[in-house]
Amino acid sequence: MILVAGSANLDFITRVSHLPRPGETVLGPGFSTAPGGKGANQAVACARAGFPTQFFGALGDDPYAGVLRDSLRSSGVQDLCLTLPLPTGAAFITVAESGENVIAVASGANAGLTSTQLPPLQGTDVLVLQLEIPLETVQAYARAAQAQGVRVILNAAPAASLPVGLLADVDVLVVNEGELETLSGPGDLEEQLRRVQAQGPRTVLVTLGGEGSAALSSDLDGAALIRVPAPAVKVVDSTGAGDTYVGVLAGALGGGEPLEGAMRRATVAASLACTREGAQPSMPSREEIERGLQGGAA
Ligand code: RIB
Repeated sequence: MILVAGSANLDFITRVSHLPRPGETVLGPGFSTAPGGKGANQAVACARAGFPTQFFGALGDDPYAGVLRDSLRSSGVQDLCLTLPLPTGAAFITVAESGENVIAVASGANAGLTSTQLPPLQGTDVLVLQLEIPLETVQAYARAAQAQGVRVILNAAPAASLPVGLLADVDVLVVNEGELETLSGPGDLEEQLRRVQAQGPRTVLVTLGGEGSAALSSDLDGAALIRVPAPAVKVVDSTGAGDTYVGVLAGALGGGEPLEGAMRRATVAASLACTREGAQPSMPSREEIERGLQGGAA
């Protein structure tokens, strides 16, 4: 069983020709809403890819929560969420014609998830965490999982400096290039990965957008850099692509797939997610991922 603990947001999405610079106003034709939040997204991606998945997070007592619970349920995720007397998290996402985005998050109930609330971990193989809930909560959950022999995957997103000791409780760290630089400082990619690996995680993996992903793992003979390319796709909206990668990677690793195979599966899934709008609505099914892995139409 994969347990994802983290944020859930209702996403408010506006499409514009280009991303506004600070102080600039850009007009778009309208807006849409979709279920999102890095934690809930990763759980939905994992379940749609065919892996048994639970999601633990905090929602408000408002209509947005119902939209988020419906998406979890219809994707096959077991919903373990708490209801708190706070508004459900909301994210304000601006997407450019290029598919790039900027996101501002109003944390709401996500900020109310505390260190002592983690559900029992019996039957959990992998705990997946991100950084849209309080850092001390992330740290406490990672500690509790390590103490019970549960593998911990941390997606250190959005970028933040981490509390001392957190990375020692992480088995697999997943970051994008900007997040890697926040943790390691500048440098050559392999050198950056090695610097972060020295802080604890046996495996450090970086997603590289259209260039695929790369990883260093001390679990493998030779500890050489693994590189997995991404298929070429027409990017419509990259929102949730990183979450798709993390959710599918977690499911595949939890299901016993070797690292490189899990990276290939996650890369194909993330590429498919880029071809469609929204976070959770863009996430592919197991069948679509299998077709993509066999080189079929994305
Ligand atoms: O990673 C994408 C997600 O980031 C969005 O769904 C939004 O809710 C923010 O959390």
